[in-house]
Amino acid sequence: VTVEDFGSSILGRLQKLFKTAIADAFPGLDLPLLLAETPNPQFGDYQCTSAMPIAAKLKSTGVNKKPGDVAKEIEAKLPTNVDFIEKVNVLPAGFMNIFLNKDYICKQISQLASKGITLPKVAKKRVLVDFSSPNIAKEMHVGHLRSTIIGDSICRLFEAVGFDVLRVNHIGDWGTQFGMLIAHLYDRFPDFLKKLPDIADLQAFYKESKKRFDEDEVFKKRAYECVVKLQSHEEEIVKAWNTICDVSKKYNQIVYDHLDIKIKDVGESFYQDKMVELIKWIKENKPDMIREEEGRLIMFPSECTVPLTVVKSDGGFTYDTSDLAALKYRMLEEKVDWNIYVVDAGQNLHLESIYAAGRDLEWYDINIHRVEHVGFGLVLGEDRKKFKTRSGETVRLLDLLSEGVKRATEKLKEKGREAVMTEEELAAARDAVAFGCVKYADLSHTRTQDYVFSFDRMLDDRGNTAVYLLYAYARIRSIVRTSGITDAQLAEYVSKNPILPLNHPAELKLAKQLLKLSDCILQVLDSLMLHQMCDYVYQLATLFHDFYNECYVIEKKDGEPPVVHFHRLALCEVTANVISTCFKILGIREVPKM
Ligand code: ARG
Repeated sequence: VTVEDFGSSILGRLQKLFKTAIADAFPGLDLPLLLAETPNPQFGDYQCTSAMPIAAKLKSTGVNKKPGDVAKEIEAKLPTNVDFIEKVNVLPAGFMNIFLNKDYICKQISQLASKGITLPKVAKKRVLVDFSSPNIAKEMHVGHLRSTIIGDSICRLFEAVGFDVLRVNHIGDWGTQFGMLIAHLYDRFPDFLKKLPDIADLQAFYKESKKRFDEDEVFKKRAYECVVKLQSHEEEIVKAWNTICDVSKKYNQIVYDHLDIKIKDVGESFYQDKMVELIKWIKENKPDMIREEEGRLIMFPSECTVPLTVVKSDGGFTYDTSDLAALKYRMLEEKVDWNIYVVDAGQNLHLESIYAAGRDLEWYDINIHRVEHVGFGLVLGEDRKKFKTRSGETVRLLDLLSEGVKRATEKLKEKGREAVMTEEELAAARDAVAFGCVKYADLSHTRTQDYVFSFDRMLDDRGNTAVYLLYAYARIRSIVRTSGITDAQLAEYVSKNPILPLNHPAELKLAKQLLKLSDCILQVLDSLMLHQMCDYVYQLATLFHDFYNECYVIEKKDGEPPVVHFHRLALCEVTANVISTCFKILGIREVPKM
């Protein structure tokens, strides 16, 4: 399922034009369109290379045509009066080089300056994003941090294009492990009913109870009794369970607050009754899909080699059961169009089996729905081994974030910002850098790969980092702010100049990059690969830098009043607005001063 764009992106419009022209010239070929940006401006702005595979395919059916001639025939079918195309150069080898029309670019930038940034218009979808999803009582770790950052950004992207988004925290808040946790809670915090215990180190609490469970038969028996009582909703035991969840969630909430994350809990416990119904439903509707084996109820989804365990031999449910119940609920009750799981790559097999089962059980249709595992790699330390503290423990997320704040403070100090900024401005910049750098470092790496967590690298202000971008953004905003020109004056200029005089090559390059925002957004909507947006905004900042080095925005000559180049101020303003749009999607707080 791909996203349909209603003509807002240049690439999208080009794709439509070329698809139609190819279908007109060579009907029935069924080949994917090859059309992309060109890295080398000599070859135009975009290039279509479809003529080569078309010639090859024709040859296989006995028709001999040179790619160059194929390209000419395609060109002949292109409409001639397209506002944004200057020319299409067809090369003998079959390359079709597409050049954008300059007036069109100048007009579009003027519009962006007068009307603000518009995002691509796409068909509205109802989308569920399952992200973060830590387990109760075990501390949230860096893997959950990745899921949180990537998932939040995907939600922001969906929200930006107007989707109806459900942000879901599928927390692990149910299961037999709660027996031992509850029994241990009674011993360690006997007055838990009166006040919320301060279980500062939940990880240790979990380990202690696990140790007792493994070594102490009496404790083990009590733990089992607690599970039974919990499942039969005995009031006090439910309160104990709630207490443990609350303590855990309170800690997680601090992490979410730092990172500006909004998410709703719909954890495994939400599916308690739905799992019972699920088994009944399968038995009634698809009895052939399940079978009993050694007392367990299992299911072999199509094309899967490992079975799902739907009911354990002791009658209990599993991670498989809750995920099946969740899939059914999301597709049939919530009626979502897209159901996206942002979970580490290690769980791919599990999730693919769940999806296959869902298709077998006819809960959704791949031609209409998008059910997808958005996987990601591990977080590694600078030694390229699994990310750990020096003593080999799991890194606590709050410690990690505090370290970020400390480093960001140092960074601003090193840059001498204390002298020129107020305390409030400094605090805002510090937090934007600290949390922005952690998020951006994660998002800017290809998510499917492992990534090395390094504060030194993410705080480098010369590379593709949040710090670099935050500085660039603040600098651009300050150009307009200190120009002496008011917003109203600039707005008046733009309204009188629907076609900005962009003549310098650096201006045009920057302008073209600005117009690619829609292309970028559509691409990421499809791939859910946020590094593509990071690359886009980084390149934008770099092109701005080139432009600013080569072109005066405000020209000062000795003894004369400064000359303000209004069209360049407009270009600055649009650039800042586009960066700000990207920051919103990437979850980076913008600060006007750095
Ligand atoms: N709680 C799981 C974990 O920490 C992740 C859950 C992901 N979501 C899902 N629907 N399985 O590994």
